[in-house]
Amino acid sequence: MRIEENYSLLAYNTFHLPVKARWFMEYENEEELGRILRDEYFQECISLHIGCGSNLLFINDYRGIILHSQIKGIQLVEENENTVLLRIGAAEIWDDVVAYAVSKGWGGIENLSNIPGEAGAAAIQNIGAYGVEIKDVIERVETYNQLSFEKRIFTKEECRYEYRYSFFKNEHNEPHIITHILIRLNKKPVYTLQYGTLKETLANYYPAITLTHIREAVISIRKEKLPDPKIIGNAGSFFTNPFITKQHFDKLKVQYPDMPFYPALNNRIKIPAAWLIEQCGFKGKNHGQVGVYDKQALVLTNLGDANGHEIALVAESIRAAVKERFDIELTPEVKYVD
Ligand code: EPU
Repeated sequence: MRIEENYSLLAYNTFHLPVKARWFMEYENEEELGRILRDEYFQECISLHIGCGSNLLFINDYRGIILHSQIKGIQLVEENENTVLLRIGAAEIWDDVVAYAVSKGWGGIENLSNIPGEAGAAAIQNIGAYGVEIKDVIERVETYNQLSFEKRIFTKEECRYEYRYSFFKNEHNEPHIITHILIRLNKKPVYTLQYGTLKETLANYYPAITLTHIREAVISIRKEKLPDPKIIGNAGSFFTNPFITKQHFDKLKVQYPDMPFYPALNNRIKIPAAWLIEQCGFKGKNHGQVGVYDKQALVLTNLGDANGHEIALVAESIRAAVKERFDIELTPEVKYVD
């Protein structure tokens, strides 16, 4: 176990904000986690469990305890003719898991290549890209209840997955810390290639496409469109893509015939937030130390010395402009920490 006081979180938030945590605690296994959670001082403090901080916006220094897992490992727990079941420690770097699966010829997560973050956080967030979400492969999630200290295994259904949502994101539910995720992958992969840019990038490889080709194509698309958080501070998409009613959509379509859209469940329509933001004139513009990325308007960047408050202010002016022009409410995908 590692315990640090007044600890810099610079390496633990991809916006590169130079914030500090009053306490930083890192555990190696479930037994150490149990000891931390039962500690009386821990119970008196506010706390936040983080992964790599690739989806966090720290507004200030954190006055409580930041918890971080070091539970690692990728275990093959079941194998049959068609599939493998992997048990993955929550602290594994998600992209290492994808690289490993692809190297073994196991399909299902290759479209989720190059997404920053750790496996546990990926399962909380239901990460998704290029037509695939992690929920498509999740079979079970192992957790530790932060209040009752009980271990509980959630089935996929109990995780209540939706677009960028799970049981673990809902603050009305008792807090559960994910220790391991179990994912089922396919030894005879079926590829998901309907996403426009992915299809185009792979055009040269048809019909002999491999998992490695898909991983390489996804990496090249992401490199082209998204800033590398190792170089430019950012947290990927700042907002989720909004869903609107058919009625609202029909009205907007008359005024904006070129508006891109994706039909969704329950007669709702998903509109790319990036398009809405671009229409409002933010794309490629800088606001002090905060940028709106010139190749993808959904990404806010730290140009060097931004603080969390400044980033939140730019996000707020984007939200207000989109609301004013389209009557659509944008919701941050990024979690604000105050
Ligand atoms: N578009 C614009 N302007 C832009 C960028 C995009 O108008 O600056 C429009 C285009 O019409 C484009 C459409 O938006 O066709 C969709 O753009 P893109 O394919 O880049 O996807 P996105 O909806 O903006 C989502 C995810 C990404 C994921 C990509 C690929 C969300 C919030 N974001 O972005 O996830 O990589 O699809 O599947 O759902 C993330 O969550 O951090 C993330 C990067």
